[in-house]
Amino acid sequence: MRVVLEGVSKTYADRHGHPVEALCEVSARVESEEFVTIVGPSGCGKSTLLQIVAGLLAPSGGRVYFEGAAAADRPITAMVFQEFALFPWRTAQANVEFGLEELGVPAAERARRAQQYIELAGLAGFEGKYPYQLSGGMRQRVGIARALAVDPAVLLMDEPFSALDAQTRQLMQEELLAIWERTRKTIIYVTHNIQEAVYMADRVIVLSRRPGRVLAEVLVELKRPRVETMVAEPVFIQATGRIWRLIKDQARQALVQ
Ligand SMILES: Nc1ncnc2c1ncn2[C@@H]1O[C@H](COP(=O)(O)OP(=O)(O)O)[C@@H](O)[C@H]1O
Ligand SMILES: [Mg+2]
Repeated sequence: MRVVLEGVSKTYADRHGHPVEALCEVSARVESEEFVTIVGPSGCGKSTLLQIVAGLLAPSGGRVYFEGAAAADRPITAMVFQEFALFPWRTAQANVEFGLEELGVPAAERARRAQQYIELAGLAGFEGKYPYQLSGGMRQRVGIARALAVDPAVLLMDEPFSALDAQTRQLMQEELLAIWERTRKTIIYVTHNIQEAVYMADRVIVLSRRPGRVLAEVLVELKRPRVETMVAEPVFIQATGRIWRLIKDQARQALVQ
């Protein structure tokens, strides 16, 4: 499924009622089965943008639409949140089944589909554990399995690995890429980490500081599957260097103000 963002703007009101412009006329498209990352400094409106794509938040201007055949029995989008937004009173399996319950999938079918994504996400053997019994990495696997279980056309990921230590993050990045190879979803993945943005993506959309505007789109011409050693390739170094320069200029301006 293709995602089209057309001049998306968002202005919040702060607690005094003053306008806070979070996004300014963001236009972009994400092709079917494409893995696009959105990178930008903290507070530039990345989460806002994903929530608008998910339909959780209405834009103040512009619009988002989807192109391509949509299955009637499954949602267009599903979100993996930055903080492990799991239900603490549900086991891993029951968390994964949550979206399926919402869709009214019968219990036996729910269990079957949950099991499939539990295995895909590397959670086999942990079905009965509660979130507090799981490490950060395992919890985020549950978040991913829960989002995938409803078989959305578009997977939205909001800094899903930023709370993890560097080694776990690397592992999870590779596993997510492997899952994507197998499930071929359209993925929009938000991060403030430039290396991560380039490593994961077919294309990186670079946002300015708040209000977020599109500064550039960078095509990542690295082969797939991605492997760790690619971070030493000229393509990787050039892409991260270019994005870093764009964001550094912005950070300098922010320091001056
Ligand atoms: N509900 C809200 N009300 C008012 N301001 C908000 C709200 N949500 C976010 N903001 C502001 O909008 C800007 C963008 O926020 P956010 O989308 O969370 O950025 P990011 O995810 O890139 O860090 C920030 O300045 C933030 O403080
Ligand atoms: Mg955010």
